[in-house]
Amino acid sequence: MSMPYIYVTRTLTDSAMADVRGLGRPVVTGGDEPPGRDDLLRHAQGAVAVVCTLTERIDAEFLDAAGPGLRIVANTAVGYDNIDVPAATERGVRVTNTPGVLDGATADLTMALILAAARRVLDGDRLIRERTPWIWGPRMMLGLDLSAGATLGIVGYGRIGRAVARRARAFDMPILATPTSTPLTGDDGQGVTFVELPELLSRSDVVTLHCPLTPATRHLIDAQALARMKSTAVLVNTARGGIVDESALVEALRSGGIASAALDVFEGEPRVDPALADLPNTVLTPHIGSAGTATRERMCGLSVANVAEVLAGRDPVTPVN
Ligand code: DGY
Repeated sequence: MSMPYIYVTRTLTDSAMADVRGLGRPVVTGGDEPPGRDDLLRHAQGAVAVVCTLTERIDAEFLDAAGPGLRIVANTAVGYDNIDVPAATERGVRVTNTPGVLDGATADLTMALILAAARRVLDGDRLIRERTPWIWGPRMMLGLDLSAGATLGIVGYGRIGRAVARRARAFDMPILATPTSTPLTGDDGQGVTFVELPELLSRSDVVTLHCPLTPATRHLIDAQALARMKSTAVLVNTARGGIVDESALVEALRSGGIASAALDVFEGEPRVDPALADLPNTVLTPHIGSAGTATRERMCGLSVANVAEVLAGRDPVTPVN
């Protein structure tokens, strides 16, 4: 294709696909599945803009394959650990993400996972599906009462962490959070005590992760961190799998170091360690934190809007670099 084109690595929502086609450039689109590496590099050549997702690794090799014509990589996710941002900056390529539009959806799923793990929703579901005889009993299938004063520890008090706090307040949960440099606005600080991570881990009944994956947060929750947690505690991760050392987590779940874990994200995603799936005290979902219909419309729409701005010679709406 001679005219520089827009490469959309995965099929977006219908309205975003219509928007991208309306930008007046040829569009090359991958399918529903992530492209293989060879296809990804091949399609990079000649692209002026790339709309990608968190499943594509955008690194120096990709950027060099694209060449000097590439102006923007628009990630359809708020997390951008799949992109080598310094390499893009060095080559004058803008990188954008989709902050703000998925906070509610991710916080909703976080609450669903907290509730599912604390109140043993999957255990109950399994029991019934397996046709196990049961009858109501005073000691039957007891779990953690969130609204009886269970403390929630939020690691990473950004937009999504704050959205989780708003929901947790409705459950009367005391809230701990790791310190943040982003100013608190509105009711952000209401009912929240800021403590360092070791104290948060040892005092919380539920620990939920909302920090980005960076070199500093990789394996933030390792064997030592897990050992600080209460043996009755629940760990929830809707951020990035690499924040948790999964082998250490499996060991803590097996040995009773912590009570349970609810995970939407995994270290080797989409591969899930079979040990996690074999454990009875895990709740596992396939990275669906932002998978609400309206949320995906907003994410895809924002990615395309970023491309439109950059191709028009303006600053993107939500720049990373
Ligand atoms: C994000 O936006 O980073 C989410 O993980 C996508 O679901």
